[in-house]
Amino acid sequence: MKWLGMFFLMAVAVATSPATAVEVSMFGKTKDGEDVHEYVLKNEHGMTVSLISRGATIRQIIVPDRDGKLADVVNGFDDVAGYEGEGNQYFGNATGRVCNRIAKGRFTLDGKEYSLAINNDPNHLHGGVERSLDKVVWNAKPIETKAGEGVAFRYVSPDGEEGYPGKLTISIRYVLLNDKNQLRMTYRAETDKATPVNLTNHSYFNLGGEGSATVIDHELKLEADKYTPTDDTLIPTGEIADVAGTPLDFRKSTRIGDRIEKLTDTAALGYDHNFVLNNQSGELALAATLKDPKSGRVLEVHTTEPGIQFYSGNFLMGQKGKGGKQYAHRSACCLEDQHYPDSVNHPNFPSTILQPGEKYEKTAVYSFRTE
Ligand code: GLA
Repeated sequence: MKWLGMFFLMAVAVATSPATAVEVSMFGKTKDGEDVHEYVLKNEHGMTVSLISRGATIRQIIVPDRDGKLADVVNGFDDVAGYEGEGNQYFGNATGRVCNRIAKGRFTLDGKEYSLAINNDPNHLHGGVERSLDKVVWNAKPIETKAGEGVAFRYVSPDGEEGYPGKLTISIRYVLLNDKNQLRMTYRAETDKATPVNLTNHSYFNLGGEGSATVIDHELKLEADKYTPTDDTLIPTGEIADVAGTPLDFRKSTRIGDRIEKLTDTAALGYDHNFVLNNQSGELALAATLKDPKSGRVLEVHTTEPGIQFYSGNFLMGQKGKGGKQYAHRSACCLEDQHYPDSVNHPNFPSTILQPGEKYEKTAVYSFRTE
């Protein structure tokens, strides 16, 4: 009778557990022998997201087109070696501790000077060289929430790692919503010393499917009247300028290729600019709408951040990615929601300094639909 009771309870538990569950598998080992796992999230609207623990990386986002045909719309690799190799230009990675550039890798905080790795001559880019957030293996735990299934990633960056002050404890939760094709990303961080923090995800999108020839026929709308002009090393001058009358005016949905050639002879080689979002409230709001007229796929980026870096994949160099697909120049673009580049050296920009006792919090949502 007792056994029968237990069997009954177990049967009820199985029957009431969610229909889907995060699929976990071994993705491979880093060159230092660390295990990297892959987590696959699915919803009932045909969306699949795969995440890997190295770099808290988005490896795949599979979504339907207007005819229901599925395609993976982000760049990535099939193995850890791909992510460790030269071809990885931050594909889908969590990026930080400070994403984007810091002028000459230098900043002063509370009277002390800090100097960071110069990995984008003459500047510091995306958190450093060896232990930036895109390169470390994060602790990962599958989660089931009411809204959908997901993964909670956590990483504790020790005091002084990559030259940044303070022990920084970071968590990123990715949840694929059940009722909509939305991936919600919640970032949190705490420090024990004042330190700059600016986190983003560096996914490269081609809504026609990764490896498609180009994104110049995609259309983009940005909720930004202003941008931060830069010098020849892509460091902001400190000015906040109007997009009106420049090739950066995306206030109306515009084909990316329409004006890109006007920027080809600049240091950016195309679009690689920080846009100052109209929403500066810290509340979640629409920042960008990217459309591929051919497939009908539409991506919306919502964020609580004050800026977004629109990068048109100018440095993609034909490297081989998933399934041997080639990622040619301008074959994918990034919409990196974040604080402005080099904020540590610009007191007039929204601050990126996190103090002990404060909580860094940020939410971003990638929403997919078709037209
Ligand atoms: C960011 C930068 C670009 C480039 C890419 C990575 O988007 O703004 O200039 O460095 O990352 O290749």
